[in-house]
Amino acid sequence: MAFIHIPKWQLPESQVTSEAAFYNRRRFLTLMGAGIAGTTLPLISCQQQIKPTRKPEQLPLLNTKTLTARRNPTFGQVDREITNETLAATYNNFYEFGSSKEIWQKAQALPTENWRVEIAGLVKKPDVYDMDRLQREFSLEERIYRFRCVEAWAMVVPWLGFPMNALLKAVEPTAKAKFVQFTSYFDRQVTPGPSFPPGQFLPFPYTEALRIEEMANDLAFFAVGIYGHTLPKQHGAPIRAVIPWKYGFKGAKSIVKIEFTATQPPTFWNTISPNEYQFEANVEPEVSHPRWSQAKERLIGPGNQFDWQEVPTLKYNGYGEFVASLYV
Ligand code: MTE
Repeated sequence: MAFIHIPKWQLPESQVTSEAAFYNRRRFLTLMGAGIAGTTLPLISCQQQIKPTRKPEQLPLLNTKTLTARRNPTFGQVDREITNETLAATYNNFYEFGSSKEIWQKAQALPTENWRVEIAGLVKKPDVYDMDRLQREFSLEERIYRFRCVEAWAMVVPWLGFPMNALLKAVEPTAKAKFVQFTSYFDRQVTPGPSFPPGQFLPFPYTEALRIEEMANDLAFFAVGIYGHTLPKQHGAPIRAVIPWKYGFKGAKSIVKIEFTATQPPTFWNTISPNEYQFEANVEPEVSHPRWSQAKERLIGPGNQFDWQEVPTLKYNGYGEFVASLYV
């Protein structure tokens, strides 16, 4: 069950519970089509859960293959240490498999063989790419990016992949295309969603979207690997989006479709709770989430996920020099 857990370091519970209950209860009732008022509602949200976790040495070998690529010097380092790989791989959000942060084992059920990514909508070259072709046609590079979840946890990871603008050039969106939507893998048998609220009441498949100009920005990236190997399933194998100046929920995992549209497409979290998860979702320290401040973040690690270091949040997650001009 996914209950609201308010991180102690954010706000006193007394200040947040009623607000949290209000937003989530209202949205959940809407999604359920009402009719269940008066029952005790467990709550769901993109929210931090605090509980003991695995130690790094307990991570078994994951189904990954070595992947190497030249490190792009522009994104060769950041002002923080790279997060311990095992910590990053055992503290995840992947709601298709549940709402716990410890879904890495359940995510191993994701079938990644013969993966196809469909390019659809307002493009001159609609197509279907398999993973070999993607890696042949778009040269891979490594980038070290800060990563900031809307829940205020953060990490620094070395992604392997290719810039979204390379794909953009290859598929040639038409002049009418103003947005791009990413759709994640979904099959209710394999990805049932959280047990409560039951997965069937959430707007799966998970979708996210960007404006075309955001997709064209140098930073926007498709990751097919991490830490020198292909993506483990819990990180969104075999291909996911990484948009480092935005909150982590914008980075759809396990993408099966990329569709170009004229109007703003619906997105998963924004549909569930538009007041809490805006479409734009840029990292903004001064703009609080309705239930917590975004002024600070906690870097996971170094010893375990909750052995965190609290640091100030950076506007655009520190990537203002690349993206500020998109928002003037
Ligand atoms: N993509 C899908 N398909 N499903 C999800 O639940 N969660 C998002 C994003 N992409 C999510 C997703 C959120 S809220 C975050 S913070 C990041 O994935 C987490 O990525 P990580 O688990 O690899 O750190």
